[in-house]
Amino acid sequence: MSAGGPGHRAPSRPGADPVAEGPRGFAAVFGRPPEAGGDAPGRVNLLGEHTDYNDGYVLPTAIPQRTRVDVARGAGPGFRVHAAEYRDTASFDLAAPPAEHHARYVHGCLRELADGGVVLPPLDLHLHSTVPIGVGLSSSAALEVATLRALRALLGLALDDVEIARLAQRAEIAYAGVQCGIMDPMASSLADTDHMLFLDTRSLERTLLPLPRGGAVLVLDSGIARRLADSGYNRRRDECREAARRLGVASLREIDDPAAVESLPDPLRARARHVVTENARVLEAAGGADAARFGALMDASHASLRDDYAVSTPELDALVALLQAHPDVHGARLTGAGFGGACVALCVPGREGAVAASALAAYRALGHAGTQRVPEPDPADRGPGGADDPCPDPGR
Ligand code: GLA
Repeated sequence: MSAGGPGHRAPSRPGADPVAEGPRGFAAVFGRPPEAGGDAPGRVNLLGEHTDYNDGYVLPTAIPQRTRVDVARGAGPGFRVHAAEYRDTASFDLAAPPAEHHARYVHGCLRELADGGVVLPPLDLHLHSTVPIGVGLSSSAALEVATLRALRALLGLALDDVEIARLAQRAEIAYAGVQCGIMDPMASSLADTDHMLFLDTRSLERTLLPLPRGGAVLVLDSGIARRLADSGYNRRRDECREAARRLGVASLREIDDPAAVESLPDPLRARARHVVTENARVLEAAGGADAARFGALMDASHASLRDDYAVSTPELDALVALLQAHPDVHGARLTGAGFGGACVALCVPGREGAVAASALAAYRALGHAGTQRVPEPDPADRGPGGADDPCPDPGR
Protein backbone atom coordinates (compact mmCIF):
# COMPACT_ATOMS: atom_id res chain seq x y z
CA MET A 1 0.00 0.00 0.00
CA SER A 2 2.82 2.41 0.66
CA ALA A 3 6.55 2.38 0.48
CA GLY A 4 6.68 4.20 3.80
CA GLY A 5 5.95 2.38 7.01
CA PRO A 6 6.97 2.28 10.59
CA GLY A 7 10.34 3.81 11.25
CA HIS A 8 10.99 5.05 7.72
CA ARG A 9 13.01 8.25 7.67
CA ALA A 10 11.85 11.48 6.08
CA PRO A 11 13.16 11.56 2.50
CA SER A 12 15.65 14.17 1.37
CA ARG A 13 15.38 15.94 -1.99
CA PRO A 14 17.54 14.48 -4.77
CA GLY A 15 15.80 16.18 -7.72
CA ALA A 16 12.53 16.54 -9.52
CA ASP A 17 12.82 14.28 -12.59
CA PRO A 18 13.65 10.70 -11.62
CA VAL A 19 13.57 9.42 -15.20
CA ALA A 20 16.26 11.89 -16.30
CA GLU A 21 18.26 11.82 -13.09
CA GLY A 22 18.10 8.12 -12.18
CA PRO A 23 20.93 6.98 -14.49
CA ARG A 24 23.17 9.84 -13.26
CA GLY A 25 22.36 8.92 -9.68
CA PHE A 26 23.25 5.28 -10.34
CA ALA A 27 26.63 6.30 -11.81
CA ALA A 28 27.38 8.59 -8.86
CA VAL A 29 26.70 5.81 -6.34
CA PHE A 30 28.09 2.74 -8.14
CA GLY A 31 30.86 4.33 -10.24
CA ARG A 32 29.63 3.10 -13.62
CA PRO A 33 26.54 3.64 -15.78
CA PRO A 34 23.47 1.39 -15.37
CA GLU A 35 22.78 -1.31 -17.98
CA ALA A 36 18.99 -0.90 -17.93
CA GLY A 37 16.18 0.99 -16.26
CA GLY A 38 12.43 1.20 -15.85
CA ASP A 39 9.94 3.66 -14.43
CA ALA A 40 6.30 3.73 -13.38
CA PRO A 41 3.81 6.30 -12.03
CA GLY A 42 1.87 6.48 -8.80
CA ARG A 43 -1.92 6.49 -9.13
CA VAL A 44 -4.95 8.21 -7.73
CA ASN A 45 -8.22 6.34 -7.63
CA LEU A 46 -11.11 8.47 -8.91
CA LEU A 47 -13.89 6.02 -8.04
CA GLY A 48 -14.22 2.40 -6.91
CA GLU A 49 -12.72 2.22 -3.41
CA HIS A 50 -12.39 -1.08 -1.55
CA THR A 51 -13.98 -2.86 -4.49
CA ASP A 52 -10.90 -4.54 -5.98
CA TYR A 53 -10.61 -7.28 -3.36
CA ASN A 54 -14.33 -7.89 -3.84
CA ASP A 55 -13.81 -8.70 -7.54
CA GLY A 56 -15.40 -5.34 -8.42
CA TYR A 57 -14.77 -2.31 -10.63
CA VAL A 58 -12.25 0.53 -10.23
CA LEU A 59 -11.43 3.79 -12.04
CA PRO A 60 -7.89 4.98 -11.20
CA THR A 61 -5.69 7.34 -13.21
CA ALA A 62 -1.90 7.79 -13.16
CA ILE A 63 -0.36 10.81 -11.41
CA PRO A 64 2.60 12.74 -12.88
CA GLN A 65 5.00 11.65 -10.12
CA ARG A 66 7.07 8.59 -11.04
CA THR A 67 9.55 6.11 -9.63
CA ARG A 68 12.68 5.22 -11.59
CA VAL A 69 14.81 2.13 -11.03
CA ASP A 70 18.22 1.76 -12.71
CA VAL A 71 20.06 -1.53 -12.58
CA ALA A 72 23.28 -3.28 -13.60
CA ARG A 73 24.86 -6.63 -12.89
CA GLY A 74 26.94 -6.36 -9.71
CA ALA A 75 30.12 -7.93 -8.38
CA GLY A 76 28.10 -9.78 -5.75
CA PRO A 77 27.49 -11.58 -3.60
CA GLY A 78 23.79 -10.73 -3.55
CA PHE A 79 22.04 -7.43 -4.15
CA ARG A 80 22.68 -3.77 -3.34
CA VAL A 81 19.82 -1.27 -3.40
CA HIS A 82 20.50 2.45 -3.09
CA ALA A 83 17.50 4.71 -2.41
CA ALA A 84 18.28 8.27 -3.48
CA GLU A 85 15.57 9.79 -1.27
CA TYR A 86 17.03 8.16 1.82
CA ARG A 87 20.71 8.34 0.76
CA ASP A 88 20.93 4.79 1.97
CA THR A 89 22.30 1.53 0.52
CA ALA A 90 20.91 -1.84 1.65
CA SER A 91 22.74 -5.12 0.95
CA PHE A 92 20.95 -8.45 1.10
CA ASP A 93 20.54 -11.86 -0.47
CA LEU A 94 17.37 -13.67 -1.46
CA ALA A 95 17.18 -15.75 1.71
CA ALA A 96 16.68 -12.83 4.11
CA PRO A 97 14.46 -9.77 3.54
CA PRO A 98 16.35 -6.54 4.30
CA ALA A 99 15.29 -4.28 7.18
CA GLU A 100 15.00 -1.16 5.01
CA HIS A 101 11.40 -0.70 3.98
CA HIS A 102 11.99 0.34 0.36
CA ALA A 103 14.51 -2.48 -0.18
CA ARG A 104 11.94 -5.00 1.08
CA TYR A 105 9.74 -4.25 -1.93
CA VAL A 106 12.68 -4.81 -4.28
CA HIS A 107 13.52 -8.01 -2.43
CA GLY A 108 9.88 -9.10 -2.83
CA CYS A 109 10.04 -8.58 -6.61
CA LEU A 110 13.34 -10.49 -6.86
CA ARG A 111 11.88 -13.35 -4.81
CA GLU A 112 8.80 -13.55 -7.03
CA LEU A 113 10.97 -13.74 -10.15
CA ALA A 114 13.27 -16.35 -8.58
CA ASP A 115 10.28 -18.42 -7.42
CA GLY A 116 9.07 -18.32 -11.04
CA GLY A 117 12.34 -19.82 -12.25
CA VAL A 118 14.31 -16.71 -13.26
CA VAL A 119 18.02 -17.11 -12.50
CA LEU A 120 19.16 -13.81 -11.00
CA PRO A 121 22.76 -12.58 -11.21
CA PRO A 122 24.15 -10.31 -8.45
CA LEU A 123 22.62 -6.87 -9.01
CA ASP A 124 23.10 -3.21 -8.09
CA LEU A 125 19.91 -1.11 -8.15
CA HIS A 126 19.31 2.61 -7.75
CA LEU A 127 15.86 3.96 -6.77
CA HIS A 128 14.70 7.51 -7.33
CA SER A 129 11.09 8.56 -6.80
CA THR A 130 8.88 11.63 -6.63
CA VAL A 131 5.74 9.65 -5.71
CA PRO A 132 4.59 10.89 -2.29
CA ILE A 133 5.07 8.18 0.33
CA GLY A 134 2.38 6.89 2.65
CA VAL A 135 -0.54 9.05 1.47
CA GLY A 136 -2.46 6.51 -0.61
CA LEU A 137 -0.96 7.34 -4.02
CA SER A 138 0.65 3.91 -4.53
CA SER A 139 4.31 4.64 -4.00
CA SER A 140 4.86 0.93 -3.36
CA ALA A 141 3.16 -0.22 -6.58
CA ALA A 142 5.19 2.35 -8.54
CA LEU A 143 8.37 1.00 -6.95
CA GLU A 144 7.47 -2.63 -7.66
CA VAL A 145 6.37 -2.02 -11.25
CA ALA A 146 9.46 0.12 -11.97
CA THR A 147 11.72 -2.57 -10.44
CA LEU A 148 10.11 -5.32 -12.53
CA ARG A 149 10.32 -3.20 -15.69
CA ALA A 150 14.02 -2.55 -15.07
CA LEU A 151 14.64 -6.28 -14.53
CA ARG A 152 12.58 -7.16 -17.62
CA ALA A 153 14.80 -4.84 -19.66
CA LEU A 154 18.07 -6.08 -18.13
CA LEU A 155 17.33 -9.79 -18.30
CA GLY A 156 15.16 -9.84 -21.44
CA LEU A 157 12.21 -11.34 -19.54
CA ALA A 158 9.07 -12.14 -21.54
CA LEU A 159 6.59 -10.40 -19.20
CA ASP A 160 3.67 -8.28 -20.37
CA ASP A 161 2.24 -5.37 -18.37
CA VAL A 162 -0.48 -7.49 -16.75
CA GLU A 163 2.04 -10.14 -15.67
CA ILE A 164 4.18 -7.36 -14.20
CA ALA A 165 1.15 -6.12 -12.23
CA ARG A 166 0.39 -9.63 -10.94
CA LEU A 167 4.00 -10.15 -9.84
CA ALA A 168 3.97 -6.75 -8.10
CA GLN A 169 0.78 -7.63 -6.21
CA ARG A 170 2.22 -10.98 -5.10
CA ALA A 171 5.43 -9.28 -3.95
CA GLU A 172 3.43 -6.80 -1.90
CA ILE A 173 1.23 -9.43 -0.27
CA ALA A 174 4.05 -11.87 0.44
CA TYR A 175 6.72 -9.47 1.59
CA ALA A 176 4.94 -6.36 2.83
CA GLY A 177 2.21 -8.20 4.71
CA VAL A 178 -0.83 -6.35 3.33
CA GLN A 179 -3.57 -8.27 1.54
CA CYS A 180 -3.87 -5.57 -1.15
CA GLY A 181 -5.90 -5.93 -4.32
CA ILE A 182 -4.82 -5.73 -7.96
CA MET A 183 -5.87 -2.09 -8.59
CA ASP A 184 -2.63 -0.33 -7.65
CA PRO A 185 -0.16 -2.39 -9.69
CA MET A 186 -2.57 -2.51 -12.66
CA ALA A 187 -2.93 1.29 -12.55
CA SER A 188 0.82 1.79 -12.23
CA SER A 189 1.47 -0.66 -15.05
CA LEU A 190 -1.31 0.34 -17.48
CA ALA A 191 -2.75 3.80 -16.75
CA ASP A 192 -1.59 7.21 -17.93
CA THR A 193 -2.30 10.75 -16.77
CA ASP A 194 -4.73 11.56 -19.61
CA HIS A 195 -7.02 8.59 -19.06
CA MET A 196 -8.73 6.64 -16.32
CA LEU A 197 -8.34 2.89 -16.30
CA PHE A 198 -11.76 1.24 -16.13
CA LEU A 199 -10.83 -2.16 -14.75
CA ASP A 200 -12.92 -5.22 -13.95
CA THR A 201 -10.74 -6.71 -11.24
CA ARG A 202 -12.25 -10.19 -11.66
CA SER A 203 -11.56 -10.69 -15.39
CA LEU A 204 -8.90 -7.94 -15.65
CA GLU A 205 -10.80 -6.68 -18.72
CA ARG A 206 -9.96 -3.02 -19.03
CA THR A 207 -10.48 0.12 -21.09
CA LEU A 208 -8.63 3.41 -21.01
CA LEU A 209 -11.33 6.09 -20.88
CA PRO A 210 -10.85 9.84 -21.27
CA LEU A 211 -11.08 11.83 -18.02
CA PRO A 212 -14.59 13.25 -17.46
CA ARG A 213 -15.33 16.08 -19.85
CA GLY A 214 -14.95 19.47 -18.10
CA GLY A 215 -13.10 18.02 -15.10
CA ALA A 216 -9.51 18.31 -13.87
CA VAL A 217 -7.95 16.18 -11.14
CA LEU A 218 -6.76 17.78 -7.90
CA VAL A 219 -5.15 15.72 -5.11
CA LEU A 220 -4.57 17.10 -1.62
CA ASP A 221 -2.70 15.29 1.14
CA SER A 222 -4.49 15.67 4.47
CA GLY A 223 -1.17 15.49 6.33
CA ILE A 224 -2.68 12.78 8.53
CA ALA A 225 -0.62 9.60 8.71
CA ARG A 226 -2.62 6.53 7.81
CA ARG A 227 -3.25 5.27 11.31
CA LEU A 228 -3.89 1.54 11.61
CA ALA A 229 -4.24 1.38 7.84
CA ASP A 230 -2.85 -2.13 7.47
CA SER A 231 -4.81 -3.78 10.29
CA GLY A 232 -7.98 -1.83 9.43
CA TYR A 233 -7.63 -2.77 5.76
CA ASN A 234 -7.19 -6.47 6.46
CA ARG A 235 -10.19 -6.38 8.83
CA ARG A 236 -12.41 -4.84 6.13
CA ARG A 237 -11.32 -7.60 3.78
CA ASP A 238 -12.33 -10.23 6.33
CA GLU A 239 -15.70 -8.53 6.88
CA CYS A 240 -16.41 -8.55 3.13
CA ARG A 241 -15.43 -12.20 2.84
CA GLU A 242 -17.78 -13.05 5.72
CA ALA A 243 -20.62 -10.98 4.19
CA ALA A 244 -20.21 -12.80 0.86
CA ARG A 245 -20.16 -16.18 2.63
CA ARG A 246 -23.39 -15.39 4.49
CA LEU A 247 -25.05 -14.22 1.27
CA GLY A 248 -23.95 -17.39 -0.51
CA VAL A 249 -21.89 -15.69 -3.24
CA ALA A 250 -18.23 -16.06 -4.18
CA SER A 251 -17.71 -12.30 -3.84
CA LEU A 252 -19.77 -9.16 -3.19
CA ARG A 253 -19.30 -8.22 -6.84
CA GLU A 254 -22.04 -10.71 -7.66
CA ILE A 255 -24.66 -8.62 -5.88
CA ASP A 256 -26.27 -5.78 -7.86
CA ASP A 257 -29.25 -4.98 -5.67
CA PRO A 258 -28.39 -3.06 -2.46
CA ALA A 259 -31.58 -4.45 -0.85
CA ALA A 260 -29.99 -7.92 -0.95
CA VAL A 261 -27.58 -7.02 1.86
CA GLU A 262 -30.25 -5.83 4.29
CA SER A 263 -30.55 -9.26 5.93
CA LEU A 264 -26.95 -9.10 7.17
CA PRO A 265 -26.13 -8.04 10.73
CA ASP A 266 -24.16 -4.85 11.22
CA PRO A 267 -21.39 -4.01 10.51
CA LEU A 268 -21.43 -6.56 7.67
CA ARG A 269 -24.58 -4.98 6.20
CA ALA A 270 -22.96 -1.54 6.04
CA ARG A 271 -19.69 -2.87 4.60
CA ALA A 272 -21.52 -4.86 1.90
CA ARG A 273 -23.80 -1.91 1.10
CA HIS A 274 -20.72 0.24 0.41
CA VAL A 275 -19.25 -2.32 -1.98
CA VAL A 276 -22.52 -2.87 -3.87
CA THR A 277 -23.30 0.85 -4.24
CA GLU A 278 -19.67 1.71 -5.08
CA ASN A 279 -19.62 -0.81 -7.93
CA ALA A 280 -22.82 0.77 -9.28
CA ARG A 281 -21.22 4.22 -9.10
CA VAL A 282 -18.18 3.07 -11.07
CA LEU A 283 -20.34 1.44 -13.75
CA GLU A 284 -22.38 4.61 -14.13
CA ALA A 285 -19.26 6.83 -14.29
CA ALA A 286 -17.57 4.56 -16.83
CA GLY A 287 -20.70 4.75 -18.96
CA GLY A 288 -19.81 8.38 -19.81
CA ALA A 289 -20.81 10.68 -16.92
CA ASP A 290 -19.96 14.34 -17.47
CA ALA A 291 -17.93 16.19 -14.83
CA ALA A 292 -20.98 17.33 -12.85
CA ARG A 293 -22.43 13.82 -12.60
CA PHE A 294 -19.01 12.27 -11.99
CA GLY A 295 -18.51 14.76 -9.14
CA ALA A 296 -21.86 13.82 -7.60
CA LEU A 297 -20.80 10.17 -7.70
CA MET A 298 -17.53 11.08 -5.95
CA ASP A 299 -19.47 12.89 -3.20
CA ALA A 300 -21.70 9.85 -2.74
CA SER A 301 -18.64 7.60 -2.63
CA HIS A 302 -17.14 9.66 0.18
CA ALA A 303 -20.37 9.50 2.21
CA SER A 304 -20.44 5.74 1.74
CA LEU A 305 -16.77 5.33 2.73
CA ARG A 306 -17.40 7.48 5.81
CA ASP A 307 -20.75 6.09 6.97
CA ASP A 308 -20.86 2.50 5.72
CA TYR A 309 -17.24 1.50 5.30
CA ALA A 310 -15.92 3.55 8.26
CA VAL A 311 -12.49 4.27 6.75
CA SER A 312 -12.55 8.08 6.90
CA THR A 313 -11.19 10.32 9.67
CA PRO A 314 -12.46 13.68 11.01
CA GLU A 315 -9.61 15.45 9.20
CA LEU A 316 -10.38 13.80 5.84
CA ASP A 317 -14.07 14.61 6.31
CA ALA A 318 -13.19 18.25 7.00
CA LEU A 319 -10.93 18.58 3.96
CA VAL A 320 -13.42 16.83 1.67
CA ALA A 321 -16.23 19.08 2.95
CA LEU A 322 -14.14 22.19 2.21
CA LEU A 323 -13.48 20.93 -1.32
CA GLN A 324 -17.12 19.99 -1.91
CA ALA A 325 -18.24 23.49 -0.80
CA HIS A 326 -16.02 25.25 -3.35
CA PRO A 327 -17.92 26.57 -6.41
CA ASP A 328 -15.22 25.29 -8.81
CA VAL A 329 -15.38 21.71 -7.51
CA HIS A 330 -17.66 19.10 -9.11
CA GLY A 331 -17.08 16.55 -6.34
CA ALA A 332 -14.53 15.23 -3.86
CA ARG A 333 -13.77 12.17 -1.75
CA LEU A 334 -11.04 10.44 0.19
CA THR A 335 -8.90 8.26 -2.06
CA GLY A 336 -6.97 5.06 -1.45
CA ALA A 337 -7.49 2.84 1.57
CA GLY A 338 -8.47 5.71 3.91
CA PHE A 339 -7.63 5.95 7.64
CA GLY A 340 -5.72 9.19 6.69
CA GLY A 341 -3.83 10.04 3.51
CA ALA A 342 -5.13 11.94 0.50
CA CYS A 343 -8.36 13.36 -0.99
CA VAL A 344 -9.18 13.72 -4.68
CA ALA A 345 -11.42 16.37 -6.23
CA LEU A 346 -12.71 16.95 -9.74
CA CYS A 347 -12.37 20.67 -10.48
CA VAL A 348 -13.17 23.13 -13.22
CA PRO A 349 -10.06 22.92 -15.46
CA GLY A 350 -7.59 25.71 -14.76
CA ARG A 351 -8.97 26.30 -11.25
CA GLU A 352 -7.05 23.52 -9.45
CA GLY A 353 -4.47 25.88 -7.89
CA ALA A 354 -7.09 28.36 -6.66
CA VAL A 355 -9.26 25.57 -5.23
CA ALA A 356 -6.24 24.02 -3.48
CA ALA A 357 -5.13 27.36 -2.00
CA SER A 358 -8.57 28.15 -0.64
CA ALA A 359 -9.30 24.66 0.76
CA LEU A 360 -5.84 24.34 2.33
CA ALA A 361 -6.07 27.80 3.94
CA ALA A 362 -9.42 26.93 5.53
CA TYR A 363 -8.02 23.52 6.58
CA ARG A 364 -5.04 25.28 8.17
CA ALA A 365 -7.44 27.51 10.11
CA LEU A 366 -8.84 24.28 11.60
CA GLY A 367 -5.33 23.46 12.83
CA HIS A 368 -4.20 21.02 10.10
CA ALA A 369 -1.38 21.19 7.55
CA GLY A 370 -2.35 19.80 4.13
CA THR A 371 -0.35 19.75 0.90
CA GLN A 372 -1.19 19.96 -2.80
CA ARG A 373 0.10 16.84 -4.61
CA VAL A 374 -1.57 16.91 -8.05
CA PRO A 375 -1.13 18.95 -10.15
CA GLU A 376 2.42 19.28 -8.89
CA PRO A 377 2.72 22.81 -7.48
CA ASP A 378 5.01 25.25 -9.23
CA PRO A 379 8.55 24.84 -7.75
CA ALA A 380 8.47 28.57 -6.90
CA ASP A 381 5.59 27.86 -4.52
CA ARG A 382 7.39 25.07 -2.72
CA GLY A 383 8.12 25.99 0.85
CA PRO A 384 7.62 24.58 4.30
CA GLY A 385 5.03 21.83 4.04
CA GLY A 386 5.00 22.13 0.25
CA ALA A 387 5.02 19.20 -2.14
CA ASP A 388 8.77 19.10 -2.09
CA ASP A 389 9.30 19.90 1.55
CA PRO A 390 12.47 18.00 2.48
CA CYS A 391 11.26 17.60 6.06
CA PRO A 392 7.65 16.42 5.96
CA ASP A 393 6.13 14.83 9.03
CA PRO A 394 7.46 11.33 9.52
CA GLY A 395 5.04 8.53 8.79
CA ARG A 396 3.31 10.04 5.79
C1 GLA B 1 -5.21 0.13 -1.18
C2 GLA B 1 -5.00 -1.23 -1.83
C3 GLA B 1 -5.85 -1.37 -3.09
C4 GLA B 1 -7.31 -1.01 -2.82
C5 GLA B 1 -7.42 0.31 -2.07
C6 GLA B 1 -8.82 0.61 -1.62
O1 GLA B 1 -4.72 1.13 -2.01
O2 GLA B 1 -3.64 -1.41 -2.14
O3 GLA B 1 -5.72 -2.68 -3.60
O4 GLA B 1 -7.93 -2.05 -2.12
O5 GLA B 1 -6.58 0.33 -0.91
O6 GLA B 1 -9.65 0.79 -2.72
